[in-house]
Amino acid sequence: MSQQAHFIVLGNEKGGSGKSTTAMHVAIGLLRLGYRVGTIDLDARQGTFTRYMANRFEYIGRHKLPLPSPVHFPIEKSKAATVEEQEREDHDFFMMATEELRHATDFIVIDTPGSDTYLGQLAHFYADSLITPMNDSFVDLDVLARIDTGTKAIKAPSIYTKMVMEQRENKKNRDGKTLDWIVMRNRLSSLDAKNKREVGDLLEIIAKEFGFRLSTGFGERVIFRELFLKGMTLLDMKEDPEHKMTMSAISARQEVRDLLRCIAPEHLKGYPDKK
Ligand SMILES: Nc1ncnc2c1ncn2[C@@H]1O[C@H](COP(=O)(O)OP(=O)(O)O)[C@@H](O)[C@H]1O
Ligand SMILES: [Mg+2]
Repeated sequence: MSQQAHFIVLGNEKGGSGKSTTAMHVAIGLLRLGYRVGTIDLDARQGTFTRYMANRFEYIGRHKLPLPSPVHFPIEKSKAATVEEQEREDHDFFMMATEELRHATDFIVIDTPGSDTYLGQLAHFYADSLITPMNDSFVDLDVLARIDTGTKAIKAPSIYTKMVMEQRENKKNRDGKTLDWIVMRNRLSSLDAKNKREVGDLLEIIAKEFGFRLSTGFGERVIFRELFLKGMTLLDMKEDPEHKMTMSAISARQEVRDLLRCIAPEHLKGYPDKK
């Protein structure tokens, strides 16, 4: 295991695409594989990741469950008077949290706000892996690229994609490493197979153009809401006394494991597929 933590950032400028839900599942998934994990919520004003974590602490305490939890830092955007002061404060808090975690953990999982902020940019700057969940529709493709609706040709990268490509260049110049960008389709519906295939085909083309990998993604599952309220993940089902194992939940758990393998195949080599 390396001396420095691997930074996994959840990013997508659109809210409601599944960043916080995925951040939680990735963090708990890695913990359960035996890794040391730290988490940072840069969207502390909305606070979904932080509330998810608080729900977990509460639920684990109440049921006395032997379940792992990460060291968690919420960072709220600075309210200083000037933009310069705000950025300095945001930078200092971010560096403090990551310094604290960098040598003490194997992975740092960072959730970002659904909009373009300085904190969000900092996280993308330091990312080793970037995971972008996106809702599975044509409309949501525009978070990655401008598409000609008639011909379905790619017209230009989106502002977000441009930013990621810039940060990738920064990273290469800084430490000679490449940023591993993974786009993950979320809320896949089994109903509209044609739409699903068309979005998939276009994503393959966009992926080649802008250099990201595609993971299989998560299906649309009502269980995510219930899990949030309890602070549980699909990976905790066995130990959760209130959970009823369903086929849907088992398939969903497999999707989470597929994502974990996609993020860090070199770390997970030899990881047995525990059923
Ligand atoms: N695969 C899914 N199926 C059903 N609901 C989902 C799924 N992924 C996320 N959600 C729900 O969508 C809402 C937004 O998800 P969230 O992770 O908070 O997105 P973001 O952090 O990008 O704003 C939450 O209520 C969450 O429970
Ligand atoms: Mg969120």
